[in-house]
Formats: sequence, structure tokens, C-alpha cells
Amino acid sequence: MKKTFAFHTYGCQMNVRESEAAARALLDAGYTQAADEASADIVIVNSCSVRAKAEDKALGKLGLLCASKRERPGRVVGVMGCMAQRMGDELFRRLPRLDFAIGTRCAERVAPAVEAALHGEATLALRGLHETPDAPSGHVTDGGFSAFVTILLGCNRRCTYCIVPDVRGDEWSRPAREVLCEVRALAEAGVREVTLLGQSIMNYGLRTPAFDESDPPSPGGYRLPFPRLLEAVAAIPGIERIRFTSGHPSGVTDELIRLYREEPKLCHHLHLPVQSGSTAVLSRMRRGYTREQYLEAVAKLRAAVPDIAVTTDVIVGFPGETEADFEETRTLMGAAGFDNAFIFKYSPRPGTVSATWEDDVSEEEKARRNQILLGDQDVRGAILNQKLVGTTQAVLAEGPSLRNKARWSGRTSSNKIVVFTPPEGLKPGDTVALTITRAAPQTLYAE
Ligand code: SAH
Ligand code: SF4
Ligand code: F3S
Repeated sequence: MKKTFAFHTYGCQMNVRESEAAARALLDAGYTQAADEASADIVIVNSCSVRAKAEDKALGKLGLLCASKRERPGRVVGVMGCMAQRMGDELFRRLPRLDFAIGTRCAERVAPAVEAALHGEATLALRGLHETPDAPSGHVTDGGFSAFVTILLGCNRRCTYCIVPDVRGDEWSRPAREVLCEVRALAEAGVREVTLLGQSIMNYGLRTPAFDESDPPSPGGYRLPFPRLLEAVAAIPGIERIRFTSGHPSGVTDELIRLYREEPKLCHHLHLPVQSGSTAVLSRMRRGYTREQYLEAVAKLRAAVPDIAVTTDVIVGFPGETEADFEETRTLMGAAGFDNAFIFKYSPRPGTVSATWEDDVSEEEKARRNQILLGDQDVRGAILNQKLVGTTQAVLAEGPSLRNKARWSGRTSSNKIVVFTPPEGLKPGDTVALTITRAAPQTLYAE
């Protein structure tokens, strides 16, 4: 009997992508995907360190999984990702039955670690944060129409609150040739939509080179590596939609705006985390822009691409955030007119600069500010979605909707979810033109 495996993935899309690459390696090594986690012989937790809560969840999960080995002695339990990188061998002290811990930038070590665990050997694998990383390779496409492609690893921005540079290491751009080769293979396997990933993705090719003389010049004359790469991805036959995440105002350049206007495959959605609307807080966060610069980037983009959706991340309760700072975040969110926003309560992370400052906004106050912003965003989202009623949208069909199997869901170019009655013969990955008939804060409906 082949051993079965399951992944339990926390954190961002980068982790989803790395779980997938590790799953590919396990499939290639002869293991099979378990029907569910409960029945799996091998369970791998891919962990996140961005907030204390994310680590607590992964540790809780691992505790239960390790305890399950008492009834199932042959079971393999491992951890990979950011928390494994941060905690290293401490994880074995906390979880004596743990079989392996594999850090970031070395997901290719997962399959050998599983093999070793089956022979009773534990593995701890960590790669230095300044070493050249391995990009995740191998996809599990199985007829899927959408895929993640990592183009930029690590991060050098070092925002004062953020653990990511300490767990993901130095910023490193994958050579464009390698990225394009991966996207071509995906397109040949039937993938229609790619989402390019990188923490500060617009820095692509700025710190480490991505193109060299042997690469063909950009047909559109793009000189900045990021728009140039997007243009080259768009030229790949079969690819119909390109998305990317996350943006930074400094990357909203004239070239990127031109590409949004000229390249129909580039989806009209930008995830542009703002974190705060107060310049004083932004400066202590070391974000590298002011409130005005952020709003100017959004205004420029909206002027050139009127139907673009802009989404964001916000942190409430950063050290020293006053009521007035918070009000500035509120008004910025209104002025920017975000289509969606993820609001996080500040969580001090060990080793970061801001963790040395007093975490002086109380938990109740963080919760209150969080609720206020969520409430505002609900109202804003509902109004923005209402404006789309009566418009016709190109929707990439994803398949039966979770709640009602007779209806399908799909996404607009602006990344809004549309629930609709599928026309006959529709396949996942097909694009249909739909007239929006009804809107809810998070969902659009079409007949
Ligand atoms: N690289 C991305 C963000 C990656 S982390 C960017 O800079 O755009 C995802 C989000 O988690 C961040 O945008 C931020 O809003 C939130 N976050 C990061 N560190 C945090 C912390 N210490 N406490 C609370 N939220 C945090
Ligand atoms: Fe963290 Fe800032 Fe890098 Fe984003 S840009 S990953 S918030 S350090
Ligand atoms: Fe979390 Fe690591 Fe992503 S800390 S948000 S999984 S980069």
C-alpha cells in the first residue's frame, strides 16, 4: 500500500504554492494524496509566523497531530515554512514526537525528510537567509485552470513590525527565463490564469538581475523588469489572465500604468497594502511612503484605469497609534475607495524593531478599531458592488459554487466573485460575459 499524505497550510499564497511544490515531489516519489487529513499516513503542516495567532494555530495543530501518533505509531508528522524557519530545533523540544522541521527556501527537502521519517530518522533542515534560495518547482495542475508562480523570494524592505525578512531571507528575483519556462509549461497543461507571487513583487529584478543580454528585448519598450516580465508572460499563448501580489506604491510607475492600459490580459486588480493612513505611523513602520504619496499612487492608477479594483491590508494598534492616527486610517480608506480590505490587529513579533517598543494599544482598543474598519469596508464594498449592477463583466468560470451546486462561481478581472447559472456546456476555466443583476457586499450575482 502506498503511503498517503496531506498538507495543512497556514499563511499566504507563497505557502500554498510551496505546499503544492512539496506535494508534487511526494507524488513523484510514489506517495499518494490522502482523501482527507484524518486518514493520512503523513501530515505536513506548512506554517506562518506573521502574527502570534498564526503560530499558535500551527503549534496547536502540530500538538494534536503528534498526540495522534500514540494510536497510530507509524504516522509521520512534519512542519515546514516560516515558523519552522524561525523556531528551528526548539520545535523538537516542544513536540518530542515531531518527525521533521524544514525551513523556507528549501521545500525540496520535504520528500527526503518523509523518507527518512519512515525509517525512524528525524530531520531539521534550515537554509541560511543570505544563501541563494531554491524557487519552488513542480505544480499539481490536475486540469486546474489557475496557478501560482513565485517570481520573487524573500524581502529586503524590513518594515519594523514584520517577521517576513527574518524567515524568508534576502530578496531574490528568479531569472525571467525560468519564470517564463514555468508559465509556458502551465499553459500547455491547460492553465489559463497565473498569479505571480512576491512579498514586494514590484521590486522584481531590481536587487538581483532578472533579465540579461541573451533575453529578447521588450516589444513594448518596457525598461523596468517587473512590467517587462508581465508583458512577456502575457505573450505566452493560452494564458488569458495575469494577476500578481503584493504591490507597493513605489512600484506604481508610469510603465506599469501603461501596461494596465495596453495589455488586456493584465487583470484590473491591484493589492496595495497601505498598513496605516497616518504618515507618522507609516514612518515608524518604515513603509517608505507618506499618506499623500499612497493616495497619489491610487489616484494616478484610477485616472488611467477607471475600472481597476484596489484592495489593501491594514494594521490597527501599532505602537503609539493614537485615536487621531486611527482616524487618518479611516479617512484614507474612504478616500482610496478600497474594494476590499484585510484588517489585522498588531502583533509584536520577536526580533523585529517594533517589538522593542511598548505594545501600548490595548487588546480591546485594537478589537474596537478592527471592528470599525470592517464595518466601514462592508458599507463601502456594498456601494461599490451596487454600481456594477447592470454592467456586463467577463467572468472566468471556476466551477459549482460552495453553497449551491446548481450555481457556479467565477471571478471578474477585478477579482470579484460572481455567482451565476451556468450556460450549457460551460467548463471551468472558460470565460463568459455576464450581466450583473444583484450585488451583496462580498458577492455579485448574474443570471
Ligand atoms: N509583503 C506584503 C505583506 C506580507 S504579510 C506587503 O508588504 O505588502 C501580510 C500582511 O500581514 C501585511 O500586509 C500586514 O498587514 C500584516 N502583518 C505583517 N506583520 C504584522 C504584525 N506584526 N502584526 C499584525 N499584522 C501584520
Ligand atoms: Fe514584511 Fe514589509 Fe517585506 Fe511586506 S514589504 S514582507 S510587510 S517587510
Ligand atoms: Fe506567513 Fe511566511 Fe507568508 S510569515 S504571511 S507564510 S511569508
